[in-house]
Amino acid sequence: MKADCREWGTVGYSLTVKGYHDIVGDGGSRILEQVTEQRARITDGLAGVRHLVAVGSGKGGVGKSTLTLHLAGALRARGLRIAILDADFNGPSQARMAGVQQALFIPGSEKVSLPRTKDGIGVFSVGSMIPESAALEFESAANGDSHTWRATKEFAFLGEILRSFEWGELDLLMFDLPPGAERTVQYADYLGPRTSFVLVTIPSEVSRGVVARSVAALSKGPNRVLGYVENMSGYYCRECNGIKPLFDAPDDSRLEIPCLGTVPFDPELARHCDQGIPFSELADTPVRRALDRVAQQLLDTLS
Ligand SMILES: Nc1ncnc2c1ncn2[C@@H]1O[C@H](COP(=O)(O)OP(=O)(O)O)[C@@H](O)[C@H]1O
Ligand SMILES: [Mg+2]
Repeated sequence: MKADCREWGTVGYSLTVKGYHDIVGDGGSRILEQVTEQRARITDGLAGVRHLVAVGSGKGGVGKSTLTLHLAGALRARGLRIAILDADFNGPSQARMAGVQQALFIPGSEKVSLPRTKDGIGVFSVGSMIPESAALEFESAANGDSHTWRATKEFAFLGEILRSFEWGELDLLMFDLPPGAERTVQYADYLGPRTSFVLVTIPSEVSRGVVARSVAALSKGPNRVLGYVENMSGYYCRECNGIKPLFDAPDDSRLEIPCLGTVPFDPELARHCDQGIPFSELADTPVRRALDRVAQQLLDTLS
């Protein structure tokens, strides 16, 4: 790997790092062939999936996992065949939120069957494999390098999941992404141009700023950004059965991508997530209707 840094300062700098295509004939490791074969196997495994949608943000704690699950629920209620891949391997939320913490992984004829929620959504989450009190560890052949290669190992693991599970015929496969603008772009790169993005923000300048950075980074690549959802956009007041403002952030920094809708804060929704209660059991409140509208908007934008 040759790094070539120059022109720091006003002009910026350029960093040249060799890509897979530059290291053909690298002494027999067949790295380019291995990567190409791995990507082909992943593409084959996902051939029956109509839409790939990644739910990201850049920011943590804004409701990516909550919206992934409940938008999937709202779309499932419309009869769509849906699965979720919880790509947040280090902070997996879907196992608990989707109620598949105790799921068993049952080998099928060729691949492993996906655990399912009560609503019939297939869910892969590291949280179904290891308890919440344990951290995900990747073994390292040489002591001490496991952190250095962490990102590489995580993507290898993602590839393993994509080709080992029975995704089957699906209308939609949703990826629940980890935080970090750089991770968001890495996922775009890894999952390929078929994957579209939905970005989640909350109505604060800090959050919108981070999401704007993700938008800028994604705009350099081929992936479609469908739009953003503003979560915790006001809170649902049970007493008055209406939506009240939650944040006082000025409204002058809209993200320059379509808004797919807003979802208010509702402690009842958080309780449902903690207890793994599915979308179908949400009461008919403005919160459920907001989730439903965003799901419809997502569907309209996709088609
Ligand atoms: N609209 C909402 N109303 C109430 N609680 C919410 C809402 N959105 C998210 N939460 C809660 O906030 C916490 C963080 O949400 P989560 O979806 O895990 O965020 P992220 O995946 O972006 O880190 C969770 O406990 C979740 O239940
Ligand atoms: Mg999450």
